[in-house]
Amino acid sequence: MSQGLEQQAREQWKSRTGFMLAAMGSAIGLGNIWKFPYITGEYGGSAFIIVYLICIALIGVPVMLAEFAVGRKTQKDAVGSFQELTPGKPWFVTGLFGVMAAFLILSFYGVVAGWALSYTTKAMSGDLLAVPGEQMADHFGGFIGNALSPLLWQTLFMAIVIIVVVRGIKEGIEKWNKILMPTLGVLLVILVIRSVTLPGAGEGIAFLFSPDFSALSGEAVLVALGHAFFSLSLGMGTMITYGSYVPKNVNLPTAATGVSIADTGFALLAGLAIFPAVFAFGMDPAAGPGLIFITLPAVFELMPFGQFFAVLFFLLISVAALTSAISILEVPVAYFMRKFEWTRKKATWILGTIIFLFGIPSSLSLGAWGEFTIFGKVFFDAVDFLASYILLPLGGLCIALFTGWALGKQKSLEIGGFGEGSVWGKLWIFSLRFISPVLVALVLLYSTGII
Ligand code: PHE
Repeated sequence: MSQGLEQQAREQWKSRTGFMLAAMGSAIGLGNIWKFPYITGEYGGSAFIIVYLICIALIGVPVMLAEFAVGRKTQKDAVGSFQELTPGKPWFVTGLFGVMAAFLILSFYGVVAGWALSYTTKAMSGDLLAVPGEQMADHFGGFIGNALSPLLWQTLFMAIVIIVVVRGIKEGIEKWNKILMPTLGVLLVILVIRSVTLPGAGEGIAFLFSPDFSALSGEAVLVALGHAFFSLSLGMGTMITYGSYVPKNVNLPTAATGVSIADTGFALLAGLAIFPAVFAFGMDPAAGPGLIFITLPAVFELMPFGQFFAVLFFLLISVAALTSAISILEVPVAYFMRKFEWTRKKATWILGTIIFLFGIPSSLSLGAWGEFTIFGKVFFDAVDFLASYILLPLGGLCIALFTGWALGKQKSLEIGGFGEGSVWGKLWIFSLRFISPVLVALVLLYSTGII
């Protein structure tokens, strides 16, 4: 449609490593450190983890490769990619859903990331660990229910995200990920070592690694799959957009596998940083979303040098959230830059600000606006639900069908970077054609209450 308009040289990653770190930065986020541990806790520990690993391998890696391939082939944003590959067909709507999902996800992501930033400073000043352990829940509830303070932290967080994205691919996103991702790795390793060497840590390790399949339910399987999408940043065009800046000589199947392994390894390590400590101090592993903001601070209080580790931990979450948020903002930014020929600066500031404003009701809905509900959910939960459980699986379903069926096998194998007769290529197509669509459709039917 708009071909011929986008003649300015398109930005590219400076190096393969830079691209890999940025994609890992996108994948590794609140999903790994905040959500994965608490859903693992709620759905029974290691049996859930096994199902999660299967979902990553059978569906996550193939769909990520499909996104990278579509982006790199077309060198376009989430919407433009589909228009270029199948002109005149409605597949581009997938990209529009993605842009919408990006708006929604980043709006509440910024709220939770703001909490993490605030907890980092509270841990530094000593205020956090001065709260008696049994009052942590009230403390957290009081903080997120307060009208002003979380908003200020959300503002600060979103401002940092905007400042990075304004600088562009090489100078902004790539540069920051190159510094932040290794930092993240070091922080996590220190925390894991601390946690697994606590007396009584064994029980937590067993919780993670000795499966009890009786704890597993159909619901757990669907939650695992839904989370695999969220954690790998799939279904909303993030990986299409990041893939569109990848030079021709990068091997995409290796990249998709590497990013998925790093993301999953990080989630497991986050579990190892959290559960042994939770068990060692006799706390509840199934505390839900409050696990890291309520249970963990109480755990740090009981630990020698707890304040130091608390600072590291909340810094870890803030940094992980930052590198993911950057990738989410890049989805609409890339789209608006091409579609409306906006400069990067204009697109980033305008879209970043709108998303920030949209996050305000999410934040307030946990306090002052708590009575206002949509389908029985407060605004924050309604937005999370719509984006994470409806739009992302829908996007994932469409991208699987698109590369599995619409593009044609030959074309897909070619853009995926598979040689003639490659067994991996065949398996990839098989997953995109049959396994991924069926399972993802089940998640969708489940989350909409149809099954
Ligand atoms: N993968 C990120 C996380 O685990 C979240 C995310 C979702 C990022 C979708 C981009 C797209 O926190």
